[in-house]
Amino acid sequence: VSTRTPLIAGNWKMNLDHLQAIAFVQKLAWTLGDAKHDFGDVEVAVFPPFTDLRSVQTLIAADKLELAYGGQDVSAHESGAYTGEISASFLKALDTGYVIIGHSERRQYHAESDEIVAAKVKAAVGKGIVPIICVGETSDDLEKHGASAVPVAQLRAALEGLPKGTDVVVAYEPVWAIGSGQAATAEQAEQVCAALREVVKESLGDDAAAATRILYGGSVKSGNIAGFMREPNVDGALVGGASLDVDEFAAIVRYKK
Ligand code: G3P
Repeated sequence: VSTRTPLIAGNWKMNLDHLQAIAFVQKLAWTLGDAKHDFGDVEVAVFPPFTDLRSVQTLIAADKLELAYGGQDVSAHESGAYTGEISASFLKALDTGYVIIGHSERRQYHAESDEIVAAKVKAAVGKGIVPIICVGETSDDLEKHGASAVPVAQLRAALEGLPKGTDVVVAYEPVWAIGSGQAATAEQAEQVCAALREVVKESLGDDAAAATRILYGGSVKSGNIAGFMREPNVDGALVGGASLDVDEFAAIVRYKK
């Protein structure tokens, strides 16, 4: 039986400005609180755009909300002449617990290679921020190599050189399932997540493999979350579109009810 605390993470992508973010977090806290959600049971995290992070941090601290938050990306560099980038130190200064790294949209639109992803993971870990490492195959990869080959190779590259026992979260997001309404089946997700856990074991050791949360992402909604969560190697979800609607996101968080 897994002792891993499930993690439900909302990736807002480029949505919700800082005023909308404040309204969203207030309503989310109220909605989950109102439903007597046990925050010890499921960890909930939101990933707003960088410009919202300060507002989200302030609100969470002021209202003592048990809500985690993080950035959607981080620079591999510490500081200097990198126009437009945000360092791990800047995220840490806002008490950011997590950062999404290697999302397929970054890989696709910003040409992020496995090497860049690995460097970003090191930068985050170096500042004590837990990376949520995204991996996943395109439909083309799926046809040519099956489901596991590409995500397994991407994860191996991302974990390269990290000390045993490093605290990471892995998100398996098949690219064909993102924003398409066509989620993977729970069985498909389980199969790949189990293979990814083997990679964590090889790279970070047995204890880390037992402790690491592996999330599924790609068209998750309140209607399919419970099926994913029944799988032994799926420890939560990275939710895109459905995380922008408070009631829908809260229903995903309360998947047990
Ligand atoms: O990072 C989450 C994401 O890529 C999944 O998006 O809209 O299919 O839930 P969506």
